[in-house]
Parts: sequence; structure tokens; C-alpha cells
Amino acid sequence: MATNEIHLLSMGQMMPAVEKQLSESFIVHRTAERPIDEIIAEHGAKIRGIATRGRDKCDDALLAKLPKLEIVSNFGVGYDSIDVPAAVARGLVVTNTPDVLNDEVADFTVGLLLSTVRELPQADAYVRAGNWPHAPYRLTQSLRDRTVGMVGMGRIGRAIAKRIAAFDVPVVYYSRRPQADVPYRHVPNLLDMADQVDTLIVIVPGGPETKHLINAEVLKALGRRGILINVARGSVVDQQALITALKDKTIHGAGLDVFADEPRVPQELIERDNAVLVPHVGSGTHHTRARMGQLVVDNLRSWFDGQGPVTPIPE
Ligand code: DGY
Repeated sequence: MATNEIHLLSMGQMMPAVEKQLSESFIVHRTAERPIDEIIAEHGAKIRGIATRGRDKCDDALLAKLPKLEIVSNFGVGYDSIDVPAAVARGLVVTNTPDVLNDEVADFTVGLLLSTVRELPQADAYVRAGNWPHAPYRLTQSLRDRTVGMVGMGRIGRAIAKRIAAFDVPVVYYSRRPQADVPYRHVPNLLDMADQVDTLIVIVPGGPETKHLINAEVLKALGRRGILINVARGSVVDQQALITALKDKTIHGAGLDVFADEPRVPQELIERDNAVLVPHVGSGTHHTRARMGQLVVDNLRSWFDGQGPVTPIPE
């Protein structure tokens, strides 16, 4: 069967060039154009693939409604929106978009760290509000005297650590197991590491295993000079505990690209002057999003051409 006779469910909108490629290769039913229940009622029995932007849940209840489904192709390296055990139990292939975003997210993370430590958005707001003629902007914290603790040392973590080390800033890392080829000191206990450093960069996968890994205790151990940067998933940080720590100044500040219930950001966070908040844009450049989109398409084409998936998620 030619791939252009294959029905696909597309959840969430991707870049126009990617959507065009999907339309050229498949019969695409888009949740951006029609309610998903209507699509499933009419075409559920024919749908063989899902392309998902990763924002809507791809849970077992959905998978159960698609008896011919073979593959879920996720836009993004993180696939916590997909119930992977349920997909595996149903014999489905799940793919993601690794590696093509490593450098982009790492560059961005350094920017978010510097913005948070040196308060760049706050200083920008100060100038725009016309405050500069009345008084110079307050002095800020510095990167110079910091030690960075990486929470996670996967491929993106390594790219971040390499950049931080180039600033002559010491780096240590926490992960479940030490990594043989990583030149930084491994700390086997997260609480111990939070106690030893003043800056945490969170870059672990989301999902049940890492839920609230960064909790009130870890934030307390990080201490009053502490800066927390989260570019992973909102679920990894206990958001309420973080808000309390920022309010009580038991940590100094936070730079957040991800939130517990995106795109909603609690008012209490919005009101914090010691937090830099950005809307999940770590990989958000034309260059990198195009490469991620291409992988979504390539995985689907390759699978339905009988060549297997290009980038299946790790087992
Ligand atoms: C990812 O790739 O997982 C990024 O967070 C974009 O969703």
C-alpha cells in the first residue's frame, strides 16, 4: 500500500513545512481542524499512525480507540505525554526527535542561566519603565563564584555542562549511575549535591520516575544563594515548593522554561521578581524545529515503507 493511502492522526500543529510533508505522504486528520472525538468516530478504525506535538495526552484510552495503530511519532525528545508502557503493551512503535536539538537547548540554557543570575529581563524592564535616570540598577549575583550541579547527564546535559565548564565554572552532576565518559564529578545523592552547589540545572526526562525530584528539601539544601534552572519538564519540580522558596527567599532565584500545567503559569510565579519565566522555547528556533519536524515525518515514512523507525525511543 502506498503511504499516501495511510490514515494519520495529527495532534497539535507543527510548522507549515512539516504539515505540508505529512499531507503529501498521508491522509492526515488534524485535531487542529476538527475535534478529536469526531475524527475518531469517523476514521478511528483506519488510523495507522499518530504524529503528536507532545502537548496533548496520548494515553491508553486514546490508543484503545485506534485498533489499526502501529506507530506514534513524537515531536520532541521528551515523550512524557505518551503512555509508553501502554503503547508497548499494544505492540506499538514510539519515536522521538533526539540529538537534533542538543546544541540549541544547551545554548538556550546558558542564556537562561545568565539571564537569571544577572537579572537581564528585570534590568530590561527597569530601563523600559524609565527608572534608570532616577537610580542605577541594583547589583546582581555573579556566575564567577558559583558551582553548578547538573541534575541529569544525558546528551543535552553533556552539551550544557561543556558550555558551563568553558566559563571556568566548576560542574558536578547527579544521575542514578556515574557515566564513564563524563569528566565531571558524579554525586550519587541529589540532596548531597544540592548541599554542595549553589546552582542546579535540571535536565532529566519527565514522567512518573522524576516527578517532584526537586522538592522542598532539595531547595532548602540549595540554600539562600541558590539558583534553579529548569529546562526539562515542569513535573520534575514541585512547583508549589518552588513558589514558597522564591517568596521566602530561601533560594535566590529561578529560571524556568517549563511549568507544571503548561501553558498556565500560576499568578504567584508571575508576581515573583526573582524568577525568569519563558514559554517552553528551549528548542524553539526555525533551524531546530525544522529538523525535529523532519524527523517526525522521516520516522513515519520509514516505518510505513517497511524500513523500521529512524529514531525509536530508548528501550
Ligand atoms: C522536547 O524536545 O522535549 C522539548 O521540550 C520540546 O518539546
